[in-house]
Amino acid sequence: MRNLPILVVLYFIVAISIVCCGRDFYKILGVNRDATTHQIKRAYRKLAKEWHPDKNKDDPTAEEKFKNLGAAYEVLADTEKRKVYDRHGEEGLSKQGHDDGFDPFSNFFGENFGFNFGGGRERDNETPRGGDLVVDLEVSLEELFSGNFVEIVRYKPVAKPTSGTRQCNCRQEMQTIPLGPGRFQMVQKQVCDDCPNYKMVAEEKLLEVEIEPGMVDGHLYPFVAEGEPHIDGEPGDLKFKIVQMKHPKFERRGDDLYTNITISLQDALIGFETEITHLDGHKVKLVRDKITWPGARMRKKDEGMPNYDNNNVKGTLFITFDVEFPKKGLTTEERQSIKTILQQSSKQTIYNGLQGY
Ligand SMILES: *[C@@H]1O[C@H](CO)[C@@H](O)[C@H](O)[C@H]1NC(C)=O
Repeated sequence: MRNLPILVVLYFIVAISIVCCGRDFYKILGVNRDATTHQIKRAYRKLAKEWHPDKNKDDPTAEEKFKNLGAAYEVLADTEKRKVYDRHGEEGLSKQGHDDGFDPFSNFFGENFGFNFGGGRERDNETPRGGDLVVDLEVSLEELFSGNFVEIVRYKPVAKPTSGTRQCNCRQEMQTIPLGPGRFQMVQKQVCDDCPNYKMVAEEKLLEVEIEPGMVDGHLYPFVAEGEPHIDGEPGDLKFKIVQMKHPKFERRGDDLYTNITISLQDALIGFETEITHLDGHKVKLVRDKITWPGARMRKKDEGMPNYDNNNVKGTLFITFDVEFPKKGLTTEERQSIKTILQQSSKQTIYNGLQGY
């Protein structure tokens, strides 16, 4: 009991350090303290879209919320910073001098993402635009099943001011030249302005693409204004095109999955219990007590791909069986036993595959 006062003091120190020191980043993102980086990113992405100030112009708290989200994301998505934060709270981080100008939003969504914020990017036909870039992004079926975050380092050419001037805004103008009293000549002439000079410099930028569960082959994931730059106008967009890679065991058709499994003749006749490992590692049990013929198909509801629009809806998994026959020959007695057991007639049907069996 002599230790009791010390314990009480300790308790208060712990309690104070939780309450006093800075923001609760876990609460801001609405995740558990043991959340994975993946879950943190997903939570951030969802909330950042919701609380983007451009989308919440009438809500004075939106900007603050958005800033808090960015700060929480910056710390929790970084393993090192997260460790410091878990031990010493936000205070511990500021001692290490962390940068407040960090904007994870731009890594995720480009400058203002694909959805139209009020007063967003109005496409003015007069303004010249750099080209759109479409880049293939190969994604495994596992990633499309469970979701993932892919980091891409983009070397983006950025215009930087340099010495001298360049010609710009060039246009054709008519000039009237007097040739004498009452006589003129009109000529067309190219006229340009002088603009400050630029040179293109490659700038490194980290982009994060969220592979969302159920995304389909060919899905376009845009980063607004991350495409080809244009000196006199705005840059084009960069779009990642999701390309689903072939999987060695599963085939996808829409939200349904197909796989094949080979069983022994013995199991085909007497039934079996087995399991297959799904794309996220969970096991799918296959049990059958009836006879299984080659080409028989089993369906497992809700074991297909998650639907992109509603992840709670899942497709079906179809399993087609193939039967492996024994290679070793049988003795006379064994043949007799099989005959006794199966008691099948030796009647044969000849068919050409057009009439069915
Ligand atoms: C299953 O087997 C069939 C027939 O051999 C084949 O066409 C199909 O591609 C196979 N499916 C998978 C997922 O391997």
